[in-house]
Amino acid sequence: MRGALVIVLVALAGCGTEGEASLDAAPDSILDASVEDATAADADAASDADLPTPDVPLPPDAVDHDPDPEVVHVRLRAAPREFVVRGETVSGFAYNEVNPAPTIRARRGSRVIIDVDNQLEAPTTIHWHGLHVPFDMDGVVWMGAPIGAGETFRYEFVVSQQAGTYWYHPHFDTERQVDLGLYGAFVIEDPVEPASDLDAVVFFDSWGEAPGTSGHTGHRDGTHLTWTANNVAEGALRVAAGSVVRLRLLNASNAGYLNISGQGMRAIGASQGLLPADREWRERELLVPGDRRDFEVRVGSEAVEIRTAPHTLHGGAGHGDERVLFRIEPTGEAELPSGLDWPSPEIRPSVDPSYTDILYSFQGDTDLERWFINGERFPDVTIEEVPLDSVQIIELRNVSPAEHPFHMHGHGFEILSINDVPVSTYSFVDTFNLPVRSRVRIRLIADNPGDWMTHCHILPHAYDGMMTVLRVLAASP
Ligand code: C2O
Ligand code: CU
Repeated sequence: MRGALVIVLVALAGCGTEGEASLDAAPDSILDASVEDATAADADAASDADLPTPDVPLPPDAVDHDPDPEVVHVRLRAAPREFVVRGETVSGFAYNEVNPAPTIRARRGSRVIIDVDNQLEAPTTIHWHGLHVPFDMDGVVWMGAPIGAGETFRYEFVVSQQAGTYWYHPHFDTERQVDLGLYGAFVIEDPVEPASDLDAVVFFDSWGEAPGTSGHTGHRDGTHLTWTANNVAEGALRVAAGSVVRLRLLNASNAGYLNISGQGMRAIGASQGLLPADREWRERELLVPGDRRDFEVRVGSEAVEIRTAPHTLHGGAGHGDERVLFRIEPTGEAELPSGLDWPSPEIRPSVDPSYTDILYSFQGDTDLERWFINGERFPDVTIEEVPLDSVQIIELRNVSPAEHPFHMHGHGFEILSINDVPVSTYSFVDTFNLPVRSRVRIRLIADNPGDWMTHCHILPHAYDGMMTVLRVLAASP
C-alpha cells in the first residue's frame, strides 16, 4: 500500500514540465494543474517566464440535499482518482472527485447528515476534526468497524457547540488516505459573523515526503517540502480590489509545519472559532498539521503575499528564506477597505489551580522513529477515565527532541500556561503545538462521553504510537 503513495509523491515531486490531462477528464482536474505547477520551479528560467500564474481554485461548497434550513444533507463518495504524470498513471483518492473535497457549510445548531459511499478498495471512515460529535459519529475504529470497501454509512449529528473552521478526513489507514487526498473543510457559521466579501477555504498540503530521504519522520522542516495551496504551487487568488477576505487556512500535511505571514493580515480565528478581539497581533502564526487559522485580509490595490518562514521540528525557526505560498491579487483599483468587526465577548483565561489531574508526557527518538505518550505506544495504552462534566487539568510535557501538534477528539480545551507563563488572552482550541522540551497546561471540560483519541497530529508519529485514549464516562460523579 505504501508503494502507491511513494509513486505519487516521487512522481509529483520530481516530474518534468509536460503535465498531462487526467484520465477521467473531469473539468475540475485540480491535481493535474498542480502537477504542472509543482514542476514549474524545476523548469529552466526561459520556460518559467512563459507560464502564467495559475489560479488558486476554491473548493466547491457541498450540495445540501435537504430543503429544510435546519438540516444539511451531504453526500460524499470516496473513490480513487487517477492522474497522469509524465505519461505515468499514478493514483490518488478524492471525495466527489475534487481535492480539497467540497466544503460542508452549516449554521450553528443545524443537524448535519453525511452519507458516505466508500468506493475505495480499502475500508475508510470520516473523522470530523474539532467537532464535538457523539462518540459513535467520531469516525474512529476504536470500538466499531470501519466502512468496508463498497459499503455506505450515514453520519448524523447536531453542530451545536461552536462556529468556526473545522475539517474532515479519514481516521482509518489515516496516514495514507489523507496523504492521497481525502480531506475537506467543515465551516460552521454563527448567526453573527464578521461580514467579509469573500469567504475562502485554502488547504495547504506538502509534497515530497518520499521515504528514502528522511521519510515522514518529524525531521521535516517545512523548507524542504513543496507546498501547495488547494493543490497549486505559488498560485494567485484573484479578488476585486477593495474587498475584505476571510481566509480560512488549513494545514492538511501529514507532517509539515508552516509559519504564516502576509502584509496587513490579522488572525481572527483559530481551531475552535473566532479569537478574542483583545488577542495581541502576531507577525507570524504557526500553522501545524491539523490546525486552522482564519485571517482577515484587506485587499487594496496591492497584492498580498501569503508566505511561510522555515520552521524546524527540532526547536522552531529554521534556516533559509521565507517562501511565497500563494498571492491574493486585486483586480481593479481601490482604497484599502476597513477591517472586520464582530462581537467578541470578553472571556478571561481561567486561573490555573496548580494541581494536575492527568499528565501526558510526549517522548520519542527521532533516530529510532519511536514515539510514545507516558512510555506507551498505541494501542497498548492505559486509558484514563474521567467523570462526565468534570473539569480536568492536564499537563502536556514534551520531553522529546521534536515538536508535536497535540490534538484531542470530541472536545476543545483551554490553554492555561506555556512553560509556566499564563496565557494573556483566552485560548480555546482542539490542536496545539508542543514546542521541544515544553510544559503546556490545559483545562478540559469533559462534557462528551466516549473514548476519545488523544494524539500527535504528525500522522507518522501518531501511527507509530503517539496516541492514547481519554475515556469520558457516561455518568456524572
Ligand atoms: Cu485530525 Cu485524530 O485527527
Ligand atoms: Cu509528534
